[in-house]
Amino acid sequence: MTLLELRDVAAFYGPVQVLEDVSLSVPEGGAVGILGANGAGKTTTLRAISGSVKARGEILFDGKSLIGKRPDQIAALGIAHVPEGRGTLSDLTVRENLRVGAYLRRDTRKVAEDIEYCLDLFPNLRDRIRSQGSALSGGEQQMLAISRAIMAGPRLMLLDEASLGLAPSTAATVYSAIARLRKESGIAMVVVEQNATLAFTVVESATVLETGRNVLTGPTEQLKGMDEIRRAYLGG
Ligand SMILES: Nc1ncnc2c1ncn2[C@@H]1O[C@H](COP(=O)(O)OP(=O)(O)OP(=O)(O)O)[C@@H](O)[C@H]1O
Ligand SMILES: [Mg+2]
Repeated sequence: MTLLELRDVAAFYGPVQVLEDVSLSVPEGGAVGILGANGAGKTTTLRAISGSVKARGEILFDGKSLIGKRPDQIAALGIAHVPEGRGTLSDLTVRENLRVGAYLRRDTRKVAEDIEYCLDLFPNLRDRIRSQGSALSGGEQQMLAISRAIMAGPRLMLLDEASLGLAPSTAATVYSAIARLRKESGIAMVVVEQNATLAFTVVESATVLETGRNVLTGPTEQLKGMDEIRRAYLGG
Protein backbone atom coordinates (compact mmCIF):
# COMPACT_ATOMS: atom_id res chain seq x y z
CA MET A 1 0.00 0.00 0.00
CA THR A 2 1.14 3.54 -0.73
CA LEU A 3 1.63 5.64 2.40
CA LEU A 4 2.68 8.92 0.82
CA GLU A 5 1.97 10.10 -2.70
CA LEU A 6 3.03 13.40 -4.26
CA ARG A 7 1.64 14.19 -7.71
CA ASP A 8 2.72 17.26 -9.65
CA VAL A 9 3.51 19.26 -6.54
CA ALA A 10 4.39 22.92 -6.93
CA ALA A 11 5.69 25.03 -4.04
CA PHE A 12 6.23 28.71 -3.43
CA TYR A 13 8.15 31.05 -1.16
CA GLY A 14 5.88 34.07 -1.33
CA PRO A 15 5.46 34.74 -5.05
CA VAL A 16 8.53 32.73 -6.02
CA GLN A 17 7.82 29.24 -7.34
CA VAL A 18 10.63 26.79 -6.53
CA LEU A 19 8.99 23.41 -7.18
CA GLU A 20 7.49 22.96 -10.64
CA ASP A 21 6.06 19.49 -10.53
CA VAL A 22 7.50 16.95 -8.17
CA SER A 23 6.13 13.44 -7.85
CA LEU A 24 7.07 10.85 -5.27
CA SER A 25 5.59 7.62 -3.99
CA VAL A 26 6.52 6.02 -0.67
CA PRO A 27 5.12 2.58 0.15
CA GLU A 28 4.02 1.74 3.70
CA GLY A 29 7.27 0.98 5.56
CA GLY A 30 9.38 1.82 2.49
CA ALA A 31 12.25 4.27 2.08
CA VAL A 32 12.71 6.61 -0.89
CA GLY A 33 15.67 8.90 -1.55
CA ILE A 34 15.71 12.40 -3.01
CA LEU A 35 19.00 13.35 -4.65
CA GLY A 36 19.96 16.58 -6.35
CA ALA A 37 22.39 19.49 -6.40
CA ASN A 38 22.22 22.56 -4.15
CA GLY A 39 19.03 24.48 -4.77
CA ALA A 40 17.30 21.63 -6.65
CA GLY A 41 14.32 21.71 -4.28
CA LYS A 42 15.00 18.76 -1.97
CA THR A 43 14.42 20.65 1.28
CA THR A 44 11.40 22.43 -0.19
CA THR A 45 9.85 19.06 -1.12
CA LEU A 46 10.11 17.95 2.53
CA ARG A 47 8.68 21.31 3.65
CA ALA A 48 5.76 20.88 1.25
CA ILE A 49 5.02 17.49 2.85
CA SER A 50 5.30 18.79 6.42
CA GLY A 51 3.23 21.89 5.65
CA SER A 52 5.85 24.58 6.24
CA VAL A 53 5.73 25.97 2.69
CA LYS A 54 2.77 26.77 0.45
CA ALA A 55 2.13 23.89 -1.96
CA ARG A 56 -0.23 23.01 -4.81
CA GLY A 57 -0.91 19.73 -6.53
CA GLU A 58 -1.63 16.52 -4.70
CA ILE A 59 -0.03 15.32 -1.48
CA LEU A 60 -1.79 12.30 -0.02
CA PHE A 61 -0.79 10.65 3.25
CA ASP A 62 -2.64 7.44 4.00
CA GLY A 63 -5.21 8.59 1.43
CA LYS A 64 -5.81 11.99 3.08
CA SER A 65 -4.81 15.27 1.45
CA LEU A 66 -2.15 17.29 3.30
CA ILE A 67 -2.53 20.39 1.12
CA GLY A 68 -3.61 23.37 3.23
CA LYS A 69 -3.04 21.61 6.55
CA ARG A 70 -0.90 23.23 9.24
CA PRO A 71 2.47 21.72 10.27
CA ASP A 72 1.11 20.70 13.69
CA GLN A 73 -1.86 18.92 12.08
CA ILE A 74 0.46 17.07 9.70
CA ALA A 75 2.79 16.08 12.57
CA ALA A 76 -0.20 14.76 14.48
CA LEU A 77 -1.05 12.49 11.53
CA GLY A 78 2.28 10.71 12.06
CA ILE A 79 4.88 12.58 10.00
CA ALA A 80 8.11 13.57 11.73
CA HIS A 81 10.46 16.03 10.01
CA VAL A 82 14.17 16.03 10.87
CA PRO A 83 15.12 19.36 9.31
CA GLU A 84 18.37 20.41 7.70
CA GLY A 85 20.42 22.00 10.46
CA ARG A 86 18.85 19.61 12.97
CA GLY A 87 16.70 21.94 15.08
CA THR A 88 17.38 20.45 18.48
CA LEU A 89 16.60 22.61 21.50
CA SER A 90 19.86 23.94 22.82
CA ASP A 91 18.70 24.95 26.33
CA LEU A 92 17.20 21.54 27.07
CA THR A 93 19.06 18.39 28.03
CA VAL A 94 19.16 15.33 25.82
CA ARG A 95 16.49 13.65 27.96
CA GLU A 96 14.27 16.77 27.83
CA ASN A 97 14.64 16.95 24.04
CA LEU A 98 13.49 13.33 23.80
CA ARG A 99 10.49 14.06 26.01
CA VAL A 100 9.57 17.08 23.87
CA GLY A 101 9.54 14.75 20.86
CA ALA A 102 6.88 12.65 22.61
CA TYR A 103 4.72 15.55 23.77
CA LEU A 104 1.61 14.40 21.89
CA ARG A 105 1.78 10.86 23.25
CA ARG A 106 -0.10 9.52 26.24
CA ASP A 107 1.31 5.97 26.20
CA THR A 108 3.89 6.63 28.94
CA ARG A 109 5.21 3.07 29.11
CA LYS A 110 5.88 2.95 25.37
CA VAL A 111 7.46 6.43 25.58
CA ALA A 112 9.91 5.14 28.21
CA GLU A 113 10.66 2.11 25.99
CA ASP A 114 11.27 4.37 23.01
CA ILE A 115 13.70 6.54 25.00
CA GLU A 116 15.58 3.34 25.84
CA TYR A 117 15.48 2.33 22.14
CA CYS A 118 17.00 5.68 21.08
CA LEU A 119 19.77 5.38 23.65
CA ASP A 120 20.48 1.87 22.41
CA LEU A 121 20.49 3.05 18.79
CA PHE A 122 22.79 5.98 19.65
CA PRO A 123 24.97 5.04 22.65
CA ASN A 124 26.70 8.44 22.42
CA LEU A 125 23.44 10.00 23.59
CA ARG A 126 23.26 7.74 26.62
CA ASP A 127 26.62 9.15 27.74
CA ARG A 128 25.30 12.70 27.23
CA ILE A 129 21.79 12.22 28.61
CA ARG A 130 22.11 15.14 31.07
CA SER A 131 24.02 17.43 28.72
CA GLN A 132 22.36 20.44 27.16
CA GLY A 133 21.66 20.34 23.43
CA SER A 134 24.10 23.23 22.93
CA ALA A 135 26.93 21.16 24.44
CA LEU A 136 26.63 18.34 21.90
CA SER A 137 28.88 17.77 18.91
CA GLY A 138 27.40 18.04 15.42
CA GLY A 139 27.10 14.28 15.17
CA GLU A 140 25.42 14.02 18.56
CA GLN A 141 22.98 16.78 17.61
CA GLN A 142 22.06 14.85 14.47
CA MET A 143 21.55 11.70 16.55
CA LEU A 144 19.36 13.67 18.94
CA ALA A 145 17.30 15.20 16.12
CA ILE A 146 16.61 11.72 14.71
CA SER A 147 15.83 10.39 18.17
CA ARG A 148 13.41 13.21 18.83
CA ALA A 149 11.61 12.28 15.62
CA ILE A 150 11.49 8.63 16.73
CA MET A 151 9.94 9.79 20.02
CA ALA A 152 6.97 11.23 18.13
CA GLY A 153 6.06 7.65 17.17
CA PRO A 154 5.74 8.50 13.46
CA ARG A 155 4.65 6.36 10.51
CA LEU A 156 6.80 8.47 8.19
CA MET A 157 10.10 10.22 8.85
CA LEU A 158 11.49 13.00 6.64
CA LEU A 159 15.28 13.17 6.88
CA ASP A 160 17.05 16.20 5.44
CA GLU A 161 20.80 15.72 4.81
CA ALA A 162 21.53 13.80 7.98
CA SER A 163 25.19 13.57 6.91
CA LEU A 164 25.71 17.31 6.36
CA GLY A 165 28.84 18.69 8.04
CA LEU A 166 29.75 15.41 9.72
CA ALA A 167 33.09 13.60 9.50
CA PRO A 168 32.78 10.59 7.17
CA SER A 169 32.99 8.09 10.03
CA THR A 170 30.27 9.91 12.00
CA ALA A 171 28.05 10.13 8.92
CA ALA A 172 28.51 6.38 8.43
CA THR A 173 27.55 5.74 12.08
CA VAL A 174 24.42 7.87 11.71
CA TYR A 175 23.40 6.09 8.50
CA SER A 176 23.94 2.62 9.88
CA ALA A 177 21.62 3.59 12.76
CA ILE A 178 19.05 4.88 10.26
CA ALA A 179 19.28 1.59 8.35
CA ARG A 180 18.79 -0.34 11.59
CA LEU A 181 15.85 1.86 12.61
CA ARG A 182 14.25 1.26 9.26
CA LYS A 183 14.56 -2.52 9.55
CA GLU A 184 13.37 -2.69 13.14
CA SER A 185 10.65 -0.04 13.27
CA GLY A 186 8.80 -0.21 9.97
CA ILE A 187 8.81 3.62 9.89
CA ALA A 188 8.66 4.76 6.26
CA MET A 189 11.27 7.32 5.23
CA VAL A 190 12.00 10.04 2.74
CA VAL A 191 15.77 10.47 2.75
CA VAL A 192 17.17 13.68 1.27
CA GLU A 193 20.91 13.43 0.64
CA GLN A 194 23.66 14.86 -1.50
CA ASN A 195 25.72 11.84 -0.47
CA ALA A 196 24.07 9.13 -2.58
CA THR A 197 26.44 6.45 -1.32
CA LEU A 198 24.97 6.88 2.15
CA ALA A 199 21.38 7.29 0.96
CA PHE A 200 21.65 4.07 -1.04
CA THR A 201 22.44 2.13 2.16
CA VAL A 202 18.89 2.90 3.33
CA VAL A 203 16.52 3.48 0.39
CA GLU A 204 15.05 1.04 -2.14
CA SER A 205 14.41 3.70 -4.75
CA ALA A 206 15.23 7.33 -5.37
CA THR A 207 14.41 10.32 -7.48
CA VAL A 208 16.77 12.99 -8.74
CA LEU A 209 15.52 16.59 -8.69
CA GLU A 210 16.76 19.40 -10.90
CA THR A 211 15.30 22.91 -10.56
CA GLY A 212 12.12 21.68 -8.92
CA ARG A 213 11.43 18.72 -11.22
CA ASN A 214 12.06 14.98 -11.19
CA VAL A 215 14.59 14.16 -13.88
CA LEU A 216 15.20 10.51 -13.02
CA THR A 217 13.42 8.01 -10.77
CA GLY A 218 14.15 4.36 -10.23
CA PRO A 219 15.11 1.49 -7.95
CA THR A 220 18.42 1.94 -6.13
CA GLU A 221 20.09 -0.98 -7.95
CA GLN A 222 19.27 0.55 -11.32
CA LEU A 223 20.43 4.07 -10.34
CA LYS A 224 23.73 2.76 -8.97
CA GLY A 225 24.57 1.38 -12.39
CA MET A 226 23.91 4.61 -14.31
CA ASP A 227 26.89 6.67 -15.47
CA GLU A 228 25.27 10.05 -14.77
CA ILE A 229 24.45 9.00 -11.21
CA ARG A 230 27.94 7.64 -10.66
CA ARG A 231 29.57 10.80 -11.97
CA ALA A 232 27.33 13.30 -10.16
CA TYR A 233 26.56 11.55 -6.88
CA LEU A 234 28.83 8.58 -6.27
CA GLY A 235 32.19 10.21 -6.84
CA GLY A 236 33.18 8.03 -9.78
N1 LIG B 1 12.98 30.77 2.44
C1 LIG B 1 13.20 30.88 1.13
N2 LIG B 1 12.78 31.97 0.44
C2 LIG B 1 12.98 32.09 -0.90
N3 LIG B 1 13.59 31.16 -1.66
C3 LIG B 1 14.04 30.06 -1.03
C4 LIG B 1 13.87 29.86 0.38
N4 LIG B 1 14.43 28.66 0.70
C5 LIG B 1 14.90 28.15 -0.45
N5 LIG B 1 14.68 28.98 -1.49
C6 LIG B 1 15.05 28.74 -2.91
O1 LIG B 1 14.34 27.59 -3.35
C7 LIG B 1 15.16 26.79 -4.21
C8 LIG B 1 15.18 25.37 -3.68
O2 LIG B 1 15.80 25.37 -2.40
P1 LIG B 1 15.92 24.09 -1.48
O3 LIG B 1 16.38 24.55 -0.15
O4 LIG B 1 14.67 23.31 -1.55
O5 LIG B 1 17.07 23.28 -2.23
P2 LIG B 1 17.87 21.99 -1.77
O6 LIG B 1 17.78 21.02 -2.90
O7 LIG B 1 17.43 21.53 -0.44
O8 LIG B 1 19.36 22.55 -1.72
P3 LIG B 1 20.57 22.21 -0.71
O9 LIG B 1 21.20 20.96 -1.23
O10 LIG B 1 21.49 23.39 -0.86
O11 LIG B 1 20.02 22.06 0.67
C9 LIG B 1 16.51 27.48 -4.26
O12 LIG B 1 16.57 28.21 -5.44
C10 LIG B 1 16.51 28.37 -3.06
O13 LIG B 1 17.28 29.50 -3.28
MG1 LIG C 1 18.35 21.41 1.37
